[in-house]
Amino acid sequence: MPASAAGAYFDNNATTPPLPAVVEAMRPCLEANFGNASSIHRQGQQARAMIEAARAAAAELIGAEPNEIVFTSGGTEADNLALFGMIPEPRGAHLIVSAIEHHAVLHAARELAERGAAVSWLPATRDGRVRPTDVEQALRPETRLISVMLANNETGVIQPIEAIGRIARQARVPLHVDAVQAAGKIPVSVEELGCSLLSFSAHKFHGPQGVGALYVRRGTRLRPLFYGGRHERERRAGTENLAGIAGMGAAARLALRDLEAEARRQSRMRDALEAAVKQSIPEAEALGAEAPRVPNTSCLHIPGIAGEALVIALDLRGYCISTGAACSSGAVEPSHVLTAMGLEDAEARACVRISLGKLNREAEAEAFCRILPAEIARLLELSPARHAKIKSGAISVA
Ligand SMILES: Cc1ncc(COP(=O)(O)O)c(C=O)c1O
Repeated sequence: MPASAAGAYFDNNATTPPLPAVVEAMRPCLEANFGNASSIHRQGQQARAMIEAARAAAAELIGAEPNEIVFTSGGTEADNLALFGMIPEPRGAHLIVSAIEHHAVLHAARELAERGAAVSWLPATRDGRVRPTDVEQALRPETRLISVMLANNETGVIQPIEAIGRIARQARVPLHVDAVQAAGKIPVSVEELGCSLLSFSAHKFHGPQGVGALYVRRGTRLRPLFYGGRHERERRAGTENLAGIAGMGAAARLALRDLEAEARRQSRMRDALEAAVKQSIPEAEALGAEAPRVPNTSCLHIPGIAGEALVIALDLRGYCISTGAACSSGAVEPSHVLTAMGLEDAEARACVRISLGKLNREAEAEAFCRILPAEIARLLELSPARHAKIKSGAISVA
Protein backbone atom coordinates (compact mmCIF):
# COMPACT_ATOMS: atom_id res chain seq x y z
CA MET A 1 0.00 0.00 0.00
CA PRO A 2 1.57 3.39 -0.90
CA ALA A 3 2.55 5.53 2.10
CA SER A 4 0.27 8.35 0.94
CA ALA A 5 -2.90 6.22 1.01
CA ALA A 6 -4.76 5.95 4.30
CA GLY A 7 -4.09 2.66 5.99
CA ALA A 8 -1.52 -0.07 5.65
CA TYR A 9 -1.13 -3.84 5.74
CA PHE A 10 0.32 -4.87 9.11
CA ASP A 11 -0.67 -8.56 9.09
CA ASN A 12 2.48 -10.04 7.58
CA ASN A 13 2.49 -13.07 9.89
CA ALA A 14 -0.75 -14.15 8.21
CA THR A 15 0.74 -13.70 4.76
CA THR A 16 3.06 -11.28 2.99
CA PRO A 17 2.59 -9.55 -0.36
CA PRO A 18 4.74 -11.24 -3.03
CA LEU A 19 7.60 -8.94 -4.08
CA PRO A 20 7.56 -7.72 -7.71
CA ALA A 21 10.81 -9.66 -8.39
CA VAL A 22 9.08 -12.81 -7.11
CA VAL A 23 6.16 -12.33 -9.50
CA GLU A 24 8.66 -11.77 -12.34
CA ALA A 25 10.47 -15.02 -11.45
CA MET A 26 7.14 -16.89 -11.59
CA ARG A 27 5.80 -15.36 -14.78
CA PRO A 28 7.87 -17.40 -17.30
CA CYS A 29 6.71 -20.64 -15.64
CA LEU A 30 3.11 -19.70 -16.38
CA GLU A 31 3.87 -18.60 -19.95
CA ALA A 32 6.72 -20.00 -22.07
CA ASN A 33 8.53 -22.29 -19.59
CA PHE A 34 5.66 -24.43 -18.36
CA GLY A 35 7.37 -27.83 -18.68
CA ASN A 36 7.01 -30.85 -16.41
CA ALA A 37 10.35 -31.28 -14.64
CA SER A 38 10.12 -35.07 -15.10
CA SER A 39 10.00 -34.80 -18.94
CA ILE A 40 13.10 -35.61 -20.97
CA HIS A 41 12.66 -32.91 -23.61
CA ARG A 42 13.94 -29.34 -23.52
CA GLN A 43 10.87 -27.91 -21.76
CA GLY A 44 11.25 -30.52 -19.04
CA GLN A 45 14.97 -29.84 -18.68
CA GLN A 46 14.30 -26.12 -18.30
CA ALA A 47 11.73 -26.76 -15.60
CA ARG A 48 14.14 -29.11 -13.81
CA ALA A 49 16.90 -26.47 -13.89
CA MET A 50 14.53 -23.85 -12.41
CA ILE A 51 13.48 -26.20 -9.62
CA GLU A 52 17.06 -27.08 -8.76
CA ALA A 53 18.09 -23.41 -8.70
CA ALA A 54 15.20 -22.68 -6.33
CA ARG A 55 16.16 -25.69 -4.20
CA ALA A 56 19.69 -24.32 -3.82
CA ALA A 57 18.31 -20.90 -2.78
CA ALA A 58 15.84 -22.43 -0.28
CA ALA A 59 18.64 -24.59 1.17
CA GLU A 60 20.94 -21.59 1.54
CA LEU A 61 18.29 -19.68 3.50
CA ILE A 62 18.47 -22.28 6.28
CA GLY A 63 22.09 -23.44 5.91
CA ALA A 64 21.20 -26.86 4.44
CA GLU A 65 22.33 -28.88 1.42
CA PRO A 66 20.01 -28.72 -1.62
CA ASN A 67 19.39 -32.48 -1.53
CA GLU A 68 17.99 -32.12 2.00
CA ILE A 69 15.08 -29.92 0.76
CA VAL A 70 11.66 -31.47 -0.01
CA PHE A 71 9.26 -29.02 -1.65
CA THR A 72 5.69 -29.17 -0.30
CA SER A 73 2.43 -27.26 -0.67
CA GLY A 74 3.34 -25.04 2.29
CA GLY A 75 4.10 -25.02 5.99
CA THR A 76 1.09 -27.14 6.94
CA GLU A 77 2.11 -30.00 4.65
CA ALA A 78 5.75 -29.74 5.77
CA ASP A 79 4.65 -30.01 9.42
CA ASN A 80 2.34 -32.95 8.67
CA LEU A 81 5.07 -34.71 6.66
CA ALA A 82 7.46 -34.29 9.59
CA LEU A 83 5.08 -35.65 12.24
CA PHE A 84 3.31 -38.44 10.33
CA GLY A 85 6.47 -39.28 8.37
CA MET A 86 8.53 -39.77 11.52
CA ILE A 87 5.81 -41.66 13.40
CA PRO A 88 4.23 -44.00 10.82
CA GLU A 89 3.17 -46.38 13.59
CA PRO A 90 1.75 -44.26 16.40
CA ARG A 91 0.74 -47.07 18.76
CA GLY A 92 3.38 -47.32 21.49
CA ALA A 93 5.23 -44.23 20.23
CA HIS A 94 5.73 -41.06 22.27
CA LEU A 95 6.24 -37.51 21.03
CA ILE A 96 6.97 -34.21 22.73
CA VAL A 97 5.22 -31.10 21.40
CA SER A 98 4.97 -27.60 22.81
CA ALA A 99 1.50 -26.27 23.61
CA ILE A 100 2.20 -23.05 21.68
CA GLU A 101 2.68 -24.72 18.28
CA HIS A 102 0.70 -23.66 15.23
CA HIS A 103 -2.39 -25.79 14.56
CA ALA A 104 -0.48 -27.49 11.72
CA VAL A 105 1.66 -29.23 14.36
CA LEU A 106 -0.85 -29.20 17.21
CA HIS A 107 -3.67 -30.90 15.29
CA ALA A 108 -1.28 -33.37 13.61
CA ALA A 109 -0.05 -34.36 17.08
CA ARG A 110 -3.65 -34.68 18.32
CA GLU A 111 -4.40 -36.97 15.38
CA LEU A 112 -1.36 -39.10 16.24
CA ALA A 113 -2.71 -39.30 19.80
CA GLU A 114 -6.09 -40.46 18.38
CA ARG A 115 -4.20 -43.19 16.55
CA GLY A 116 -2.54 -44.40 19.74
CA ALA A 117 0.58 -42.26 20.33
CA ALA A 118 1.33 -40.74 23.72
CA VAL A 119 1.94 -36.98 23.55
CA SER A 120 3.66 -34.79 26.15
CA TRP A 121 2.49 -31.17 25.80
CA LEU A 122 5.01 -28.64 27.03
CA PRO A 123 3.77 -25.42 28.68
CA ALA A 124 5.26 -21.97 28.07
CA THR A 125 6.42 -19.25 30.45
CA ARG A 126 4.52 -15.95 30.74
CA ASP A 127 6.96 -14.46 28.22
CA GLY A 128 6.14 -17.17 25.70
CA ARG A 129 9.17 -19.47 25.94
CA VAL A 130 9.31 -23.26 26.18
CA ARG A 131 11.78 -24.47 28.83
CA PRO A 132 14.52 -26.89 27.63
CA THR A 133 14.40 -28.59 31.05
CA ASP A 134 10.75 -29.48 30.39
CA VAL A 135 11.83 -31.19 27.17
CA GLU A 136 14.49 -33.13 29.06
CA GLN A 137 12.04 -34.23 31.74
CA ALA A 138 9.46 -35.37 29.18
CA LEU A 139 11.85 -37.74 27.38
CA ARG A 140 11.01 -41.45 27.51
CA PRO A 141 12.73 -44.50 26.02
CA GLU A 142 9.93 -44.65 23.41
CA THR A 143 10.14 -40.95 22.39
CA ARG A 144 10.24 -40.83 18.58
CA LEU A 145 10.14 -37.07 17.94
CA ILE A 146 10.38 -33.66 19.60
CA SER A 147 8.59 -30.81 17.80
CA VAL A 148 9.12 -27.21 18.95
CA MET A 149 8.77 -24.11 16.78
CA LEU A 150 11.53 -21.55 16.24
CA ALA A 151 9.41 -18.37 16.35
CA ASN A 152 5.84 -18.19 17.52
CA ASN A 153 3.32 -16.82 15.02
CA GLU A 154 1.36 -14.80 17.59
CA THR A 155 4.05 -13.35 19.84
CA GLY A 156 7.14 -13.60 17.62
CA VAL A 157 9.03 -15.07 20.59
CA ILE A 158 12.09 -17.10 19.59
CA GLN A 159 12.35 -20.46 21.33
CA PRO A 160 15.58 -21.84 22.83
CA ILE A 161 15.97 -24.38 20.03
CA GLU A 162 19.76 -24.70 20.24
CA ALA A 163 19.47 -25.90 23.85
CA ILE A 164 16.59 -28.23 22.91
CA GLY A 165 18.66 -29.48 19.96
CA ARG A 166 21.53 -30.43 22.30
CA ILE A 167 19.11 -32.37 24.52
CA ALA A 168 17.60 -34.11 21.47
CA ARG A 169 21.02 -35.09 20.11
CA GLN A 170 22.17 -36.41 23.46
CA ALA A 171 19.00 -38.51 23.73
CA ARG A 172 19.28 -39.52 20.03
CA VAL A 173 15.73 -38.32 19.40
CA PRO A 174 15.04 -36.43 16.13
CA LEU A 175 13.99 -32.80 16.54
CA HIS A 176 11.48 -31.12 14.20
CA VAL A 177 11.43 -27.32 14.13
CA ASP A 178 8.55 -25.34 12.64
CA ALA A 179 10.50 -22.34 11.34
CA VAL A 180 7.62 -20.93 9.27
CA GLN A 181 7.67 -17.60 11.15
CA ALA A 182 11.46 -17.45 11.45
CA ALA A 183 12.89 -18.29 8.02
CA GLY A 184 13.48 -15.10 6.07
CA LYS A 185 13.24 -12.94 9.22
CA ILE A 186 16.21 -14.07 11.33
CA PRO A 187 19.31 -16.15 10.46
CA VAL A 188 18.44 -19.85 10.49
CA SER A 189 21.07 -22.58 10.49
CA VAL A 190 19.98 -26.20 10.72
CA GLU A 191 23.47 -27.06 11.98
CA GLU A 192 23.34 -24.58 14.85
CA LEU A 193 19.78 -25.58 15.74
CA GLY A 194 20.72 -29.27 15.75
CA CYS A 195 17.44 -30.35 14.15
CA SER A 196 16.67 -33.30 11.87
CA LEU A 197 13.65 -31.65 10.24
CA LEU A 198 12.62 -28.03 9.68
CA SER A 199 9.51 -26.56 8.02
CA PHE A 200 9.31 -23.25 6.18
CA SER A 201 6.82 -21.56 3.89
CA ALA A 202 7.29 -19.09 1.01
CA HIS A 203 4.30 -16.83 1.66
CA LYS A 204 5.69 -15.76 5.04
CA PHE A 205 8.75 -14.17 3.38
CA HIS A 206 7.19 -12.44 0.37
CA GLY A 207 6.95 -15.53 -1.81
CA PRO A 208 3.74 -17.06 -3.19
CA GLN A 209 1.12 -18.94 -1.16
CA GLY A 210 0.82 -22.72 -1.52
CA VAL A 211 4.50 -23.63 -1.57
CA GLY A 212 6.92 -24.49 1.21
CA ALA A 213 9.55 -26.99 2.11
CA LEU A 214 10.65 -29.51 4.69
CA TYR A 215 14.34 -29.83 5.42
CA VAL A 216 15.18 -33.48 6.05
CA ARG A 217 18.69 -34.10 7.40
CA ARG A 218 20.63 -36.63 5.38
CA GLY A 219 20.10 -40.13 6.76
CA THR A 220 16.70 -39.36 8.37
CA ARG A 221 14.12 -42.09 7.68
CA LEU A 222 10.82 -40.51 6.72
CA ARG A 223 7.65 -42.18 5.42
CA PRO A 224 5.94 -40.09 2.68
CA LEU A 225 2.39 -38.79 3.05
CA PHE A 226 1.54 -39.29 -0.64
CA TYR A 227 2.23 -42.15 -3.03
CA GLY A 228 2.66 -41.73 -6.77
CA GLY A 229 5.62 -40.70 -8.90
CA ARG A 230 9.19 -40.67 -7.65
CA HIS A 231 9.35 -36.89 -7.17
CA GLU A 232 11.40 -35.19 -4.46
CA ARG A 233 13.58 -38.27 -3.87
CA GLU A 234 10.43 -40.33 -3.27
CA ARG A 235 9.42 -38.18 -0.32
CA ARG A 236 6.64 -36.16 -1.93
CA ALA A 237 4.88 -37.59 -4.97
CA GLY A 238 3.21 -35.24 -7.45
CA THR A 239 4.25 -32.95 -10.31
CA GLU A 240 6.13 -30.04 -8.78
CA ASN A 241 4.49 -26.60 -8.46
CA LEU A 242 6.97 -25.05 -10.88
CA ALA A 243 5.83 -21.42 -10.66
CA GLY A 244 5.45 -21.59 -6.89
CA ILE A 245 8.86 -23.18 -6.41
CA ALA A 246 10.53 -20.61 -8.71
CA GLY A 247 8.82 -17.86 -6.67
CA MET A 248 9.98 -19.42 -3.41
CA GLY A 249 13.56 -19.53 -4.69
CA ALA A 250 13.47 -15.85 -5.68
CA ALA A 251 11.89 -14.88 -2.33
CA ALA A 252 14.53 -16.88 -0.42
CA ARG A 253 17.37 -15.13 -2.27
CA LEU A 254 15.90 -11.68 -1.54
CA ALA A 255 15.16 -12.53 2.10
CA LEU A 256 18.74 -13.65 2.68
CA ARG A 257 20.17 -10.61 0.89
CA ASP A 258 18.16 -8.14 3.03
CA LEU A 259 17.99 -10.09 6.28
CA GLU A 260 20.10 -7.86 8.54
CA ALA A 261 18.96 -4.49 7.15
CA GLU A 262 15.28 -5.49 7.31
CA ALA A 263 15.65 -6.85 10.84
CA ARG A 264 17.07 -3.51 11.98
CA ARG A 265 14.47 -1.46 10.09
CA GLN A 266 11.44 -3.50 11.14
CA SER A 267 12.45 -3.80 14.80
CA ARG A 268 12.89 0.00 14.91
CA MET A 269 9.35 0.49 13.57
CA ARG A 270 7.97 -2.20 15.91
CA ASP A 271 9.66 -0.70 18.99
CA ALA A 272 8.40 2.81 18.14
CA LEU A 273 4.88 1.45 17.80
CA GLU A 274 5.02 -0.29 21.16
CA ALA A 275 6.46 2.83 22.80
CA ALA A 276 3.66 4.99 21.33
CA VAL A 277 0.96 2.65 22.65
CA LYS A 278 2.53 2.41 26.11
CA GLN A 279 2.96 6.15 26.36
CA SER A 280 -0.75 6.79 26.03
CA ILE A 281 -2.04 3.50 27.51
CA PRO A 282 0.34 2.66 30.40
CA GLU A 283 -1.48 -0.62 31.23
CA ALA A 284 -0.75 -1.97 27.72
CA GLU A 285 1.85 -4.72 27.59
CA ALA A 286 3.84 -6.13 24.66
CA LEU A 287 3.81 -9.87 25.30
CA GLY A 288 7.21 -11.53 25.13
CA ALA A 289 9.02 -8.19 24.90
CA GLU A 290 11.57 -9.36 27.48
CA ALA A 291 12.37 -12.47 25.45
CA PRO A 292 14.19 -12.59 22.10
CA ARG A 293 11.67 -11.95 19.32
CA VAL A 294 11.60 -11.87 15.53
CA PRO A 295 11.90 -8.22 14.48
CA ASN A 296 8.49 -7.78 12.85
CA THR A 297 5.97 -8.98 15.45
CA SER A 298 4.19 -7.25 18.30
CA CYS A 299 1.50 -8.90 20.38
CA LEU A 300 -0.20 -6.23 22.47
CA HIS A 301 -2.28 -6.96 25.52
CA ILE A 302 -4.55 -4.00 26.16
CA PRO A 303 -6.63 -4.65 29.27
CA GLY A 304 -10.26 -3.66 28.85
CA ILE A 305 -10.57 -3.90 25.06
CA ALA A 306 -11.94 -6.68 22.87
CA GLY A 307 -9.20 -7.53 20.36
CA GLU A 308 -11.74 -8.13 17.61
CA ALA A 309 -13.34 -4.72 18.15
CA LEU A 310 -9.95 -3.05 17.69
CA VAL A 311 -9.23 -5.10 14.54
CA ILE A 312 -12.58 -4.00 13.07
CA ALA A 313 -12.15 -0.36 14.11
CA LEU A 314 -8.71 -0.25 12.46
CA ASP A 315 -9.99 -2.04 9.37
CA LEU A 316 -12.51 0.76 8.92
CA ARG A 317 -9.55 3.15 8.81
CA GLY A 318 -7.71 0.98 6.27
CA TYR A 319 -5.31 -0.84 8.63
CA CYS A 320 -5.02 -4.64 8.58
CA ILE A 321 -3.92 -6.25 11.86
CA SER A 322 -5.17 -9.41 13.56
CA THR A 323 -6.21 -11.05 16.78
CA GLY A 324 -3.98 -14.08 17.27
CA ALA A 325 -3.50 -16.49 14.39
CA ALA A 326 -5.32 -15.75 11.13
CA CYS A 327 -6.07 -19.44 10.73
CA SER A 328 -8.25 -19.35 13.84
CA SER A 329 -9.94 -15.98 13.35
CA GLY A 330 -13.67 -16.45 13.14
CA ALA A 331 -13.35 -18.91 16.03
CA VAL A 332 -14.60 -17.54 19.34
CA GLU A 333 -12.03 -19.50 21.35
CA PRO A 334 -9.25 -17.43 22.91
CA SER A 335 -5.82 -18.14 21.43
CA HIS A 336 -4.33 -21.42 22.66
CA VAL A 337 -0.87 -19.79 22.52
CA LEU A 338 -1.81 -17.00 24.90
CA THR A 339 -3.66 -19.27 27.32
CA ALA A 340 -0.66 -21.67 27.31
CA MET A 341 1.42 -18.65 28.40
CA GLY A 342 -0.84 -18.33 31.44
CA LEU A 343 -3.18 -15.55 30.29
CA GLU A 344 -6.79 -15.75 31.45
CA ASP A 345 -9.37 -16.13 28.64
CA ALA A 346 -10.43 -12.48 29.04
CA GLU A 347 -6.80 -11.33 28.86
CA ALA A 348 -6.18 -13.42 25.74
CA ARG A 349 -9.24 -11.83 24.10
CA ALA A 350 -7.79 -8.41 24.84
CA CYS A 351 -4.76 -8.99 22.58
CA VAL A 352 -3.96 -7.94 19.02
CA ARG A 353 -1.07 -8.83 16.74
CA ILE A 354 0.70 -6.32 14.55
CA SER A 355 3.18 -7.86 12.11
CA LEU A 356 5.36 -5.82 9.78
CA GLY A 357 6.90 -6.72 6.46
CA LYS A 358 9.37 -5.59 3.85
CA LEU A 359 6.86 -3.39 2.03
CA ASN A 360 5.87 -1.37 5.11
CA ARG A 361 7.30 2.12 5.03
CA GLU A 362 8.32 4.24 8.03
CA ALA A 363 5.69 6.87 7.14
CA GLU A 364 2.93 4.25 7.40
CA ALA A 365 4.19 3.12 10.80
CA GLU A 366 4.43 6.73 12.00
CA ALA A 367 0.84 7.45 10.92
CA PHE A 368 -0.24 4.23 12.66
CA CYS A 369 1.58 5.34 15.85
CA ARG A 370 -0.84 8.28 15.98
CA ILE A 371 -4.00 6.38 15.05
CA LEU A 372 -3.56 3.24 17.15
CA PRO A 373 -3.46 4.85 20.63
CA ALA A 374 -6.43 7.05 19.68
CA GLU A 375 -8.50 4.04 18.54
CA ILE A 376 -7.58 2.13 21.70
CA ALA A 377 -8.55 5.09 23.87
CA ARG A 378 -11.89 5.35 22.03
CA LEU A 379 -12.64 1.65 22.60
CA LEU A 380 -11.65 1.91 26.26
CA GLU A 381 -14.14 4.74 26.67
CA LEU A 382 -16.82 2.34 25.42
CA SER A 383 -15.62 -0.72 27.34
CA PRO A 384 -18.01 -2.25 29.91
CA ALA A 385 -15.05 -2.94 32.21
CA ARG A 386 -14.21 0.75 32.30
CA HIS A 387 -17.82 1.67 32.98
CA ALA A 388 -17.92 -0.76 35.88
CA LYS A 389 -14.72 0.76 37.31
CA ILE A 390 -16.07 4.29 36.96
CA LYS A 391 -19.29 3.24 38.71
CA SER A 392 -17.42 1.60 41.56
CA GLY A 393 -15.15 4.64 41.92
CA ALA A 394 -12.03 2.59 41.11
CA ILE A 395 -11.18 5.15 38.41
CA SER A 396 -12.34 8.68 37.97
CA VAL A 397 -13.01 10.50 34.73
CA ALA A 398 -11.55 13.92 34.10
C1 LIG B 1 4.20 -21.21 12.77
C2 LIG B 1 3.41 -21.62 11.58
N1 LIG B 1 3.47 -22.90 11.17
C3 LIG B 1 2.79 -23.33 10.10
C4 LIG B 1 1.97 -22.48 9.39
C5 LIG B 1 1.23 -23.00 8.19
O1 LIG B 1 1.88 -22.60 7.02
P1 LIG B 1 1.09 -22.54 5.62
O2 LIG B 1 0.17 -21.37 5.70
O3 LIG B 1 2.18 -22.35 4.60
O4 LIG B 1 0.39 -23.84 5.46
C6 LIG B 1 1.85 -21.14 9.79
C7 LIG B 1 0.94 -20.21 9.09
O5 LIG B 1 0.47 -19.25 9.65
C8 LIG B 1 2.60 -20.71 10.91
O6 LIG B 1 2.54 -19.44 11.33
